[in-house]
Amino acid sequence: MTISSCQQPLPIKPLYIKQFFDRDSCTYTYLLVDPNSHEGAIIDGVKEQLKRDLQYIEELGIELLYAIETHVHADHISSAGLMRQKTGAQIVYNKAAAIKSIDIELLDGDELPLGHFQIKAISTPGHTCGCMSYYIDNRVFTGDTLLIRGCGRSDFQQGSSEVLYRSVTEKLFNLPEETVVYPGHDYNGNTSSTIAEEKQWNARLGKQKSLADFIDIMDNLNLALPKKINEAVPANEGCGINFNPNIYVHEDFSMSSLYQIWQQENPDNLIIDNRTEEEYLTGHIPNSKNIPLGTEPDHLEALKDFKHIYIYCHSGRRSQTALTNLAMMGLENITCVSHSGLPEWEALGYPIAH
Ligand SMILES: [Fe+2]
Repeated sequence: MTISSCQQPLPIKPLYIKQFFDRDSCTYTYLLVDPNSHEGAIIDGVKEQLKRDLQYIEELGIELLYAIETHVHADHISSAGLMRQKTGAQIVYNKAAAIKSIDIELLDGDELPLGHFQIKAISTPGHTCGCMSYYIDNRVFTGDTLLIRGCGRSDFQQGSSEVLYRSVTEKLFNLPEETVVYPGHDYNGNTSSTIAEEKQWNARLGKQKSLADFIDIMDNLNLALPKKINEAVPANEGCGINFNPNIYVHEDFSMSSLYQIWQQENPDNLIIDNRTEEEYLTGHIPNSKNIPLGTEPDHLEALKDFKHIYIYCHSGRRSQTALTNLAMMGLENITCVSHSGLPEWEALGYPIAH
């Protein structure tokens, strides 16, 4: 017997996971590395932390294969585009996120090889329509679908409480109970959980909470919009590098700016009132079109006829969300009044139609 025939194959080293935190947005970024092949993947990189992440990738000698996103983020700009430029990593999204100029579009159940391991895509829409969770080696990276003792909101980016409930209870909660949960954010200093813990203790979805109870909770969150939503969503649609300045919120665009536009009576411009029909009927800007928040897709074809769209609501909150919705549908040249609304128009003595 020769010496070499007695040698055992080297044991496979376990997957290495590094968890990073971005303090500004409370975002977790994950670096996954197969120490056997030195191949790696980054999940949800933050643009402002690119230097930090690149340094680790270099120090650990990683060949970065993938820059993976769990969804189109509203609270920070992704580093995926820059990461691809710097490392050659392929950008990975759920196909349903409909992001252009990426490299790999995944469907539910698809697998990405990472050295000796496989990253399995689990489509988990609800927080947004294009959310994907990623399962690898007894861990699941859940983005904003399942947080520790909570979950992401469902009130923008084609979110749906019912869809979110089914994604968590019918998909994530069916993973093995010992699966470690790594969320996209945490605001309380927690770093990971398990499926067993969340099935029991998740405040919104645990203890077999009913769909009706969950929807009731989600309908009453009354959250402010993320600070960066109107910057981050359009930027992330260009993988964090190619974004269109015409769909940014211009903070100084006020009701008096809108009045000047209104006076021009330019048929290429459209002013949208995106409050409810009931609110619109109690008084609105003359010749404005009522497109209640959430119904934008029903009007897409008609909206394409205008060169510039202006949006207002009551306080500026809904108009900002509508701007993001329209931008996600591919429209450009949209401006909204982001810090006031019809009460200011009235206070300034401008005309009202009924
Ligand atoms: Fe999110």
